[in-house]
Amino acid sequence: MRLFMVFAIVIFAMPITGFGWAEGSNILLDPDLMCKKTRRLRGKMAEICRRDSALLKEIINGINLGFRECEFQFRNRRWNCSTLRKSMRKILMRDTRETGFVNAITAAGVTYAVTKACTLGNLVECSCDKSHSRRNGGQPQMVNAVTAVAALEKQQAVFERNSTKNPQKKGNGNRKRRLLRNIKFPDGEWEWGGCSDNVNFGFRHSRIFLDSKYRRRSDFRTLVKLHNNMAGRLAIRDSIRLECKCHGLSGSCTVKTCWLKMPSFREVSSRLREKFDGAYKVVLRNDGNSFMPENEHIKQPSKYDLVYSDDSADFCAPNIRTGSLGTQNRECNVTSQGPDSCDLLCCNRGHKHHIVSEWVNCKCVFKWCCEVTCEKCLERREINTCL
Ligand SMILES: *[C@@H]1O[C@H](CO)[C@@H](O)[C@H](O)[C@H]1NC(C)=O
Ligand SMILES: *[C@@H]1O[C@H](CO)[C@@H](O)[C@H](O)[C@H]1NC(C)=O
Ligand SMILES: *[C@@H]1O[C@H](CO)[C@@H](O)[C@H](O)[C@H]1NC(C)=O
Repeated sequence: MRLFMVFAIVIFAMPITGFGWAEGSNILLDPDLMCKKTRRLRGKMAEICRRDSALLKEIINGINLGFRECEFQFRNRRWNCSTLRKSMRKILMRDTRETGFVNAITAAGVTYAVTKACTLGNLVECSCDKSHSRRNGGQPQMVNAVTAVAALEKQQAVFERNSTKNPQKKGNGNRKRRLLRNIKFPDGEWEWGGCSDNVNFGFRHSRIFLDSKYRRRSDFRTLVKLHNNMAGRLAIRDSIRLECKCHGLSGSCTVKTCWLKMPSFREVSSRLREKFDGAYKVVLRNDGNSFMPENEHIKQPSKYDLVYSDDSADFCAPNIRTGSLGTQNRECNVTSQGPDSCDLLCCNRGHKHHIVSEWVNCKCVFKWCCEVTCEKCLERREINTCL
């Protein structure tokens, strides 16, 4: 009887996973399928998926930005965030800390790319945030830290009310404080400058595109995934800062204008990599809709932390099931003590030494103005690669 039930579940489960999404495909690997395969596009998703949508292009740019940064952050590690499909597909099907990082960095990438596109005026749907710099009858409106905080808090409250059905959810106050805590306001009075990064628009569209397919599900993996997506977006939103410029005779700074600006994406990705190193292994709570650290002596992860539920492979040898490509032939560093050391990277299999010749730019000349021309030289370089 039991055997029969298992059999029946398998039969019924198959058409469900096959519906809409081919097995093993993923929004991140096939972002345009999201628009093509979702049967009935409604509301915001339909807006994003309009034909030739510039917004969809920015979303896809953002996903690619996330992948490129992931490759950069992990270039020296056994798992190097290779975006080879056969590997990344498996990484995304599991729920390891690698999965969590990829989800977070791509959700951050979408937030970043869409926000930048708004600021640059590349999207009709949004622009940079000029709401603070409105002036009273042509008079510059001076603000200080107190009035600026009040204005930003008010704006954030409107956004939260607009974008969540239950804005009184606990923790909103905290979120607000955290957002503003990282902003350093200058002393004295200043003016809002023209164009602030409008993170809320990017934040919302990252969420619509990457999360909405999962919103109605409440299984454990979905909880983990949505948490990591949010951690990625918050890594941008809550590290926004104020950039100021002085005007006036020879730097006298009689007038100061300031605007909100996102940190560089490299800075965001570095912070997320630290979160990867300190990621929390979590298990489902008894209530069935939240998680807690597997180790009960560890504090609850915050919304900025990354979480996962599966242990990672060691990524030493190729493995079709885990998506590991192995480290054979990877270049290692004999003098390093870090993860790219030959011992660690090669999993103690040893390494071989060779000399390679490479064409590099050389004899570069700076031409007035402003061009650099180089010759190509053949250079010999010693390298070590894993056996
Ligand atoms: C509120 O949401 C609507 C539609 O979702 C949007 O058009 C509007 O700009 C939002 N307002 C603010 C202040 O975010
Ligand atoms: C990442 O690792 C794979 C497998 O070892 C290797 O083929 C690839 O060249 C590496 N990518 C980079 C950018 O080093
Ligand atoms: C190897 O590691 C050392 C020590 O960390 C570092 O100074 C050096 O730049 C590395 N070499 C390469 C080729 O990355």
